[in-house]
Amino acid sequence: MKRRLAGIGAAAAVVLGGAAISQAATVLNAQMQEYVNSLLTEARRNDPGVKTFSAGEGKRFFNMKRVHSAKKEERSCSGCHTSNPLTRGKTPVGKILEPISPAANKERFTDAMKVEKWFKRNCHNVLERECTAKEKGDFIAYLTSL
Ligand code: HEC
Repeated sequence: MKRRLAGIGAAAAVVLGGAAISQAATVLNAQMQEYVNSLLTEARRNDPGVKTFSAGEGKRFFNMKRVHSAKKEERSCSGCHTSNPLTRGKTPVGKILEPISPAANKERFTDAMKVEKWFKRNCHNVLERECTAKEKGDFIAYLTSL
């Protein structure tokens, strides 16, 4: 999919890049911009009403608790990353996580492959499904707005 989207061209990417995430405090690198643009294209395909990604929606998603159907325990993104993305988090097995916001950790949201890998893993862990393009874009919008 990324390959096909790359064909849209730099001009479209630049226009969308400005619109995809408004009020960003962290400027994404070119590779991440392209990734976010591809998420926005997909989100709009799923729902033509989508204009931009929303930091507010991303914050709500980040803190939303959901009960796992098999484990019967509450799970959320903030469960490991904490409700303050500027601080360190911790997994249930005690592994320390560096802050998830790029304002506190410059390595965050610099590598689209890594981001996609962890979306896949953590969305399944919390939601028991993949995150939608809208959820991913809102999540990035929130964390880059801090
Ligand atoms: C069970 C603990 C746990 C939960 C719950 C969790 N994460 Fe994570 N997350 C991790 C670990 C472990 C890493 C990889 C180590 C690291 O980068 O600190 C990570 C890294 C990430 C990254 C990589 C960011 C980057 O650029 O480095 C993203 C994106 C991410 N998580 C999204 C989410 C989302 C979205 C949710 C909620 C749906 C979520 N996580 C819930 C443990 C968790």
